[in-house]
Amino acid sequence: AHSLHPAPDRRLWPDVDDRRLRWIAATFGTPTYVLDENEVRHQCRRFREVLSGFRVAFASKALSCKAVVRWVGEEGLWLDVCSAGELAVARAAGFPDERILFHGNAKTPEDLKAAHGVGRIVVDSVDELERIADARVLLRVLPRVAADTHPALATGDTGQKFGLGEADLVRALEIVDARPDLELVGLHCHIGSQIRHVATYEQAARRMVALIARLGRPVRELDLGGGFAVPYTSGEDEFDLVGYADRVTRAVRYECARQRVAVPRLVVEPGRSIVAKAGVTLYRVTSVKHPFVAVDGGMSDNARPALYGARYQPRLLRSGPMARWTLVGRHCEAGDVIAEVDLPRDVHPGDVVAVPVTGAYHHSLASNYNQVCRPALVGVRDGTTRVLVRAETEEDLLRRDVG
Ligand code: LLP
Repeated sequence: AHSLHPAPDRRLWPDVDDRRLRWIAATFGTPTYVLDENEVRHQCRRFREVLSGFRVAFASKALSCKAVVRWVGEEGLWLDVCSAGELAVARAAGFPDERILFHGNAKTPEDLKAAHGVGRIVVDSVDELERIADARVLLRVLPRVAADTHPALATGDTGQKFGLGEADLVRALEIVDARPDLELVGLHCHIGSQIRHVATYEQAARRMVALIARLGRPVRELDLGGGFAVPYTSGEDEFDLVGYADRVTRAVRYECARQRVAVPRLVVEPGRSIVAKAGVTLYRVTSVKHPFVAVDGGMSDNARPALYGARYQPRLLRSGPMARWTLVGRHCEAGDVIAEVDLPRDVHPGDVVAVPVTGAYHHSLASNYNQVCRPALVGVRDGTTRVLVRAETEEDLLRRDVG
């Protein structure tokens, strides 16, 4: 903990060197989200290679912007959107409608109108079926597995709002059967997010095949959702994607044979695991008041510590004898803490702090709390750097305030 220059853990950092990060902070200002295009594309390819029998859809809620949608589209992935807004971004990026899945537990009439023409609508309530026309649908159900994650991120068991219960599923099937314009292509489940163990997915997959057998009708597609965990700090393991491919495929084949049902096409919806590691947030230190080091961002650009008790391992982009500090944000709340962290003892205003693994659910969860402007998203690829989403300005903030 007292070394001069701890080497960054390569599992947490994209291949962008500190000089470049310092240059970005100096050129584009802080806070800034940096996103490494090579890393995003690498993850897309890894998913397509390792899960070669699966369809892979990027869950754009993790990071929705035109550039990322283009990259994942070029890499051959499908796209999961959960609102008319995410769909508008996808279409603005030229993403083909036929490869889009539309999600949501409370789809509005506007959402459903916009969703007309997409590849799949994932139905989450009987009510929405009455408002959908001419669509290929998947029905989202509960596999009833308890996911190994934060309670706010568990979505596969009873007691939370997602998925059709048994009675609603029967009713939904009746409606779909009576409607020639609706084609049932499959079933969907999503057990939660930041799931660490393959066994949780295996269990869900078995439950889903048992359900298909009970339905007594062919189901062409089985979408097992996303949720693959990523490490945020050095102590955490990588998710075993190779093990997932092997064990989930085998569990599905085995159960299908046992239950005498046809093996469905498998689909996954990774969000976090595609973009998390590609992202680094840059801040500048604004004040030092032992044991607190305060920076020019915080819970408005990273809500995850406050929402989920999430932990991070930031670094100062220079070396020196280390000490323990509490890295805090600029917001008017005591809970605006980014991390407990080792930083140089002489950390001072103007130093650049970099927080890794901030590509997923940071830009997309950002807010204007305290009327703080949201940061730019700056893309890096090989030797080039360019703004993907520009920083917000006070003019932007005031434009909507028409009272
Ligand atoms: N599919 C569905 C239906 C989902 O609801 C989600 C995430 C995903 C796929 C992608 O899950 P992922 O692979 O990214 O874990 N804001 C939280 C995460 C919420 C996840 C919501 N649903 C966080 O910052 O940890």
